Amino acid sequence: RLTRCSVSLQSSKAVQGLTGLRNLGNTCFMNSILQCLSNTKELRDYCLQNQYLRDLNNNSRMRTALMSEFAKLIQLLWTSSPNDCVSPSEFKTQIQRYAPRFVGYNQQDAQEFLRFLLDGLHSEVNRVLVRPRASTDTLDHLPDDEKSRQMWRRYQEREDSRIGDLFVGQLKSSLTCSECGYCSTAFDPFWDLSLPIPKKGYGEVTLMDCLRLFTKEDVLDGDEKPTCCRCKARTRCTKKFSIQKFPKILVLHLKRFSEARIRTSKLTTFVNFQLKDLDLREFASQSCNHAVYNLYAVSNHSGTTMGGHYTAYCKSPVSSEWHSFNDSRVTPMSSSHVRSSDAYLLFYELASPSSRIRGAKPRGRGHRHRTEESSPWQGRAQATQAPPGRWRLVFTLGLVFLLSFSSCVIKITEQGTRQARGHPPH
Ligand SMILES: *[C@@H]1O[C@H](CO)[C@@H](O)[C@H](O)[C@H]1NC(C)=O
Ligand SMILES: *[C@@H]1O[C@H](CO)[C@@H](O)[C@H](O)[C@H]1NC(C)=O
Ligand SMILES: *[C@@H]1O[C@H](CO)[C@@H](O)[C@H](O)[C@H]1NC(C)=O
Ligand SMILES: [Zn+2]
Repeated sequence: RLTRCSVSLQSSKAVQGLTGLRNLGNTCFMNSILQCLSNTKELRDYCLQNQYLRDLNNNSRMRTALMSEFAKLIQLLWTSSPNDCVSPSEFKTQIQRYAPRFVGYNQQDAQEFLRFLLDGLHSEVNRVLVRPRASTDTLDHLPDDEKSRQMWRRYQEREDSRIGDLFVGQLKSSLTCSECGYCSTAFDPFWDLSLPIPKKGYGEVTLMDCLRLFTKEDVLDGDEKPTCCRCKARTRCTKKFSIQKFPKILVLHLKRFSEARIRTSKLTTFVNFQLKDLDLREFASQSCNHAVYNLYAVSNHSGTTMGGHYTAYCKSPVSSEWHSFNDSRVTPMSSSHVRSSDAYLLFYELASPSSRIRGAKPRGRGHRHRTEESSPWQGRAQATQAPPGRWRLVFTLGLVFLLSFSSCVIKITEQGTRQARGHPPH
């Protein structure tokens, strides 16, 4: 199989990765996430090119079976012929060993599943074999950017893998005392962001509205008053999130399920999101960040909290065409159908400045790839009209980006890593 795999990688003109996954009984949540990950280019290559083998922790106390089964499954998805269907049952055996809550055939939450899965994969290919003791020295005397760097370094001293390289970002939370004005900051790693959906009387909201609500200043008063370390008393404070380090792959979770007292309910608000050029710079804690993202996968939940169905739509990293993955059935779809009120998890990839420049060139061989936002033909028209000065500008911007990016991808955090926004609990 491995030989076949590398052969097919070389001649990847045939459309691959369009293999369905058998539903083993309410396992559509798992299938939906697996297809989104299978279309995550770097993760796919990590599995297909067997790079993960090098990183497997052979330490006898640790397991490696989850990563191995995951990679096997990704290889099967990318080597089977289109319209084939493979069974994820061996993979399921491993994920339920790792996280017993996935034993059985209950409907589960796709976001929770994603967190457990990424955490499991990460721990089996963690480059850190012996974790140093967590440092408890306070870093509060340092300026914010230095503090964030140190926090990131501390995090990476314990958690450092290819999986983390792709998915982990760093979130800054600032707590400002309204009495004395003292601002304390914390820097936590995150694997995804859970976004609240603003409640509007009618009409749609945009993904930017959700992000603005998430990063909005929040007042902590009454019972919620935190203790200010300067006033040495519980005071009214404001709290605010911003993104310190943008991950390569940004998973946005739309909080459609709200825990009500008796049963959960689902918000079916239509959240309009951009497929291309989602610019998140306004949410950055420091000004240098390049933060433009393109969508490549969506996990779709239809139905209610009691009974629902998950599907996925993914843009092939090979053909750039969108397909709908409904368990064993894979069908082509138009990018104009990607937005719906059922979108639940959005997978965005950080655009590199080079790909943005490349995007302006005509695409070869009739790979039709028309989205509403930008068609390659519009891009070409712009490119041919553009005066040379514009290219110089684009080039310079690219360089500036590269320089700022390298100083920006600062090595930053661990604190409260295992809390809500970080890892799932073990
Ligand atoms: C684990 O073993 C494989 C093959 O035996 C080897 O290639 C790999 O480098 C080892 N991994 C580590 C982290 O030592
Ligand atoms: C997403 O869910 C909606 C609601 O059930 C459905 O109409 C749509 O076809 C689904 N999309 C895909 C690609 O499965
Ligand atoms: C998924 O497939 C099932 C049949 O297997 C069908 O009933 C259902 O409508 C499909 N859902 C979507 C969203 O395509
Ligand atoms: Zn104070």
